[in-house]
Amino acid sequence: MDLIEIMRRRRSIRKYTGEPVAEEKLQQILQAGLLAPTSRGKRPWEFYVVKDKETLEKLSRAKWHGSALIAGCDTAIAVFADSELSDAWIEDSSIALAYMDLTASSLGVGSCWVQMRMRKDEQGGDAEQNVRRILGVEEPFRIVGILALGMPAEEKQAYSLDELKWEKVHR
Ligand SMILES: Cc1cc2nc3c(=O)[nH]c(=O)nc-3n(C[C@H](O)[C@H](O)[C@H](O)COP(=O)(O)O)c2cc1C
Repeated sequence: MDLIEIMRRRRSIRKYTGEPVAEEKLQQILQAGLLAPTSRGKRPWEFYVVKDKETLEKLSRAKWHGSALIAGCDTAIAVFADSELSDAWIEDSSIALAYMDLTASSLGVGSCWVQMRMRKDEQGGDAEQNVRRILGVEEPFRIVGILALGMPAEEKQAYSLDELKWEKVHR
């Protein structure tokens, strides 16, 4: 499949069968993250792979809205980055997340990006601090988001190249 076709078919999948993601596929998804470009080649990111159900459950409650799906996923990859090593840590982390998201989709693994940076939990606490506490990661490491992975239990329509918002392009 060419890259545009993979992008056309990529959708956020939030329901999972419970079947494990094959180690070989997880390895390829992580390879994609490690291949992502970074500002000045600094590679400030660190990928925390979580499979433990209890930890996934805790992460699912790290923020108020939009993270419950983590409880049902097979594996979560929390992308932290050393904010002192690079001032482009947000961009670098985002690209790695996007690469892993796309690769998951290309391998038939359901995935969804879960934002944690600048988000609150149900009590108004900081979601990033919650994730840091759950995974034992200290400052200056900062988080952008978590990629939830699992074998898909829902199907979504691919995007159509005929419906792209070309009005966003100015030339
Ligand atoms: C930066 C970013 C943050 C996101 N955060 C969440 C989130 O916290 N929870 C969630 O369920 N989906 C999240 N998503 C997924 C988006 O909701 C989804 O990409 C969007 O609705 C478009 O749908 P699609 O991915 O199927 O094309 C996020 C996506 C991005 C790129």
